[in-house]
Amino acid sequence: MLNFDFYNPTHIVFGKDRMSELDSLVPKNSNILITYGGGSVNKFGTLDKVLANLPDRKIFQFGGIEPNPQYLTLMKAVEIVKNEDIDFILAVGGGSVMDGSKFIALASCYSGNALNLLNPDSPLAPVDCAIPMGTIVTLPATGSEMNNGAVISHNETKVPIFSIHTFPKFSILDPTLTFTLPKTQVANGIIDTFIHTVEQYVTYPVNAGFQDRTAEGILQTLIEVSDTTLNNPEDYDARANLVWCSTMALNGLIGSGVPQDWTTHMIGHEITALFGIDHAKTLAILQPAIWKVRKEKKKAKLLQYAARVWNITDGTDDEKIDLAIKTTSDFFESLGVSTKLSAYGLNEKNIDSIIASLAKNNRTALSETKDLTLDICREILIKAL
Ligand code: NZQ
Ligand code: ZN
Repeated sequence: MLNFDFYNPTHIVFGKDRMSELDSLVPKNSNILITYGGGSVNKFGTLDKVLANLPDRKIFQFGGIEPNPQYLTLMKAVEIVKNEDIDFILAVGGGSVMDGSKFIALASCYSGNALNLLNPDSPLAPVDCAIPMGTIVTLPATGSEMNNGAVISHNETKVPIFSIHTFPKFSILDPTLTFTLPKTQVANGIIDTFIHTVEQYVTYPVNAGFQDRTAEGILQTLIEVSDTTLNNPEDYDARANLVWCSTMALNGLIGSGVPQDWTTHMIGHEITALFGIDHAKTLAILQPAIWKVRKEKKKAKLLQYAARVWNITDGTDDEKIDLAIKTTSDFFESLGVSTKLSAYGLNEKNIDSIIASLAKNNRTALSETKDLTLDICREILIKAL
């Protein structure tokens, strides 16, 4: 196992009917900015429930944070935080609202040009404080509710940003708040969680038994609940399992002490930034193609994945790995998500612009061994056509 630090201060408040606890979680007599997205929280009554449980505070609202939150939108909220002396931000929504709120929290404490916080070469934000924040999660997918990362979009680029100051103070995870999600967003959540897990697991072995077994547990749970939670959204137990898997897949736990390979996310971010394809849908396209191209490098872990996650134990090593990759693609397709670029109208010509973006953002040495070059990215993208 590799050396590691594990630090995670977020208080998780999990389960039904916990909204009344907001009053004790959010500082009293404070100025609160409630942030949200394009209106689902109005439509489905979540915002009303939040407001009803926050007496004795001065409340401001900022809606309109879009999927793949945009820098220019978020800077409007930074103005409100500064002008109204906001001392707590409450994000109500999915990954985009939570991420956007982390950026608002950081940029509000930064005296320089906030664009400096978006640096693809140096994701660690040069800021020594942030407005404290909490989240109320309406979409299980990103893990943003229990990590300190955010992904912000600007000028056709998605930039990851991290800070020790952006762990939410608390996150309310009430699975019933996610019942209103359209099927396609539930599928996105399953896939994003699946890929977060494999990017910290399908690398090379370092004898990290706990991390491997936990990753396998998350993957198997996703496989077990996927059909039910997709087709019977109000099945509480299935959805509760998805919600908790999403949080645990990207809160630092399974990534501690193991190599990590974020190639899928790095290439996926460029595809979303250029063509607007949902984050998780880019991952479903790329992961099988990446494994096909990196089969030899990842052989030991792919065989472990085949055996322990999909119970594939017959045949030669090559046959087992090929079947595991095919079974993974079939799983994503079974959720109604395509695993091909061409399904979104992209062709070989578009690959040039993806490669150019990767080069512009210095994503030229990806993977757990930093030897995944732009030429290999091209090979992957051609396989994904
Ligand atoms: O905007 P509203 O109207 O709220 O609608 C949203 C949005 O259109 C809707 N939605 C959310 N909760 C709902 C709902 N609709 C009905 N009922 C509900 N309960 O869903 C749509 C998508 O929301 P979004 O927040 O964009 O999705 P997701 O949670 O998948 O977040 C994606 C963003 O997270 C970033 C991605 O890059 C992308 O920008 N990521 C953040 C990570 C992190 N912080 O650690 C890691 C991830 O890998 C990812 O990169
Ligand atoms: Zn993701």
